[in-house]
Amino acid sequence: MLKVGLIGCGVIFNLNIQGYLFSPDVEVVAVADTNIKNAGEKLDRWGLRTTKIYTDYKEMIDKEDLDIVDILTPHHLHAPMAEYAAKAGVHGISVQKPMAHTITDCERIIQVCKEEKVVLKSFENFRFYPPYLKAKELLDQGIIGTPLNFRINTIGTGGPRMPYSLLKSYLWRVQVDKCGGGPLVYDDGIHKFSLALWLMDEERVDKLYSWIDYFSATVDFPANIIWKYPSKGTNDPPRYGSMEFCQGPNIYYPSNFYACDEFIEISGTKGIMWLNQCTSGGNFVSKTPQYPPIVVFSDGEVKTYGEDLPRDWRYSFIGATQNFIKVMKDGGTPIYTGEQGRDLCIFAKMPYISSQQQREVSWEEITPENEQNKSCVVEEFFSKRKVLGKGIGYLRRVGKDLKKGIKQGLEHEKLKYEYDL
Ligand SMILES: NC(=O)c1ccc[n+]([C@@H]2O[C@H](COP(=O)([O-])OP(=O)(O)OC[C@H]3O[C@@H](n4cnc5c(N)ncnc54)[C@H](O)[C@@H]3O)[C@@H](O)[C@H]2O)c1
Repeated sequence: MLKVGLIGCGVIFNLNIQGYLFSPDVEVVAVADTNIKNAGEKLDRWGLRTTKIYTDYKEMIDKEDLDIVDILTPHHLHAPMAEYAAKAGVHGISVQKPMAHTITDCERIIQVCKEEKVVLKSFENFRFYPPYLKAKELLDQGIIGTPLNFRINTIGTGGPRMPYSLLKSYLWRVQVDKCGGGPLVYDDGIHKFSLALWLMDEERVDKLYSWIDYFSATVDFPANIIWKYPSKGTNDPPRYGSMEFCQGPNIYYPSNFYACDEFIEISGTKGIMWLNQCTSGGNFVSKTPQYPPIVVFSDGEVKTYGEDLPRDWRYSFIGATQNFIKVMKDGGTPIYTGEQGRDLCIFAKMPYISSQQQREVSWEEITPENEQNKSCVVEEFFSKRKVLGKGIGYLRRVGKDLKKGIKQGLEHEKLKYEYDL
């Protein structure tokens, strides 16, 4: 039985813990959080009555003889925590995406895990969302020929969503020295960049251009990002991708998790694939015949797939954790490795540099050296003055509109927020 300790019992703990709870091969023996109330509430919620709580993660690691440490804290803490665990003899470390707030710290984690012979997993769960796994299988079978163009749109909706404090959650995410970028393009974007590489069968992109606004002063939206994949050969057409983040704050759209959803379109040499929903998958939109998880047009026919698959987003977490447990038990390489986790951070930093410097950015520029000499660093965007101005006003106005909409009968009878799945 593998002994697991988790560091950080914030919002995402409720999802990460599920992969361990469903596994007969592990036991969650301890958690660490500086906020003892957070830790207590989470253990209570999951009936983990014998799991110990530490307020100091180092003490937990020193005392518990752990096989696995799972790091679920703000990004600037990932490297020091991983380093401490690796040097203390922990066998496997899972670091929640993004692997770190800087590429320098990503390299530090990779290096120390190599030196100490630790299995390092960079945890990115969207790759394990069941409809996406099915989509990848179909793409690999050539259902749309060679994929040429990738597009993903993330729409922030009005909810209702799982309960959590927006203020607490955003406090560290809007500070670049803690987050590494903004809450959307960097923090959330890592998932989308992961899909943009994996579904297109690529390891990296060549160059990228973007526009990022900070309309509410704290959050990096709307954002529009375009990139070019490396060219395959002179006879192959260039391949591009794009990503958008927009907000539809009055879209009534119940989610068991965050108030957003993802929509993907991939066009290939002989067909088109649409992937409907991820984070809010399983809500009433998913249950309409117009919104099957996968739609493919090829060979003159429209076909749909994945209606029988679990669409709740939590299965992506369970799958990602199960992948790590399997590697820890049977050997192999986790999805993702440290190097792949670093590459996702490189991809997710590029849009900020492009937007700040209003120029095309190449992959090779995002290096620890350029972070040190400050030619390629994400600039701070948080401004108290602006937040108190249009940001707060906008959010209040938007909140009122949504409440009005719900009162007018928008509330869906069947699916509200379903915490106890
Ligand atoms: N995979 C996903 O879809 C997904 C979604 C949300 C967040 N995340 C990632 O999960 C991680 C945590 O995010 P969150 O939303 O849960 O954040 P959060 O702010 O809700 O929780 C962070 C927790 O870490 C604790 N903490 C802070 N400093 C600590 C320390 N020194 N020692 C021990 N505990 C400490 C805090 O008290 C808090 O309970 C981040 O890497 C984030 O990007 C992933």
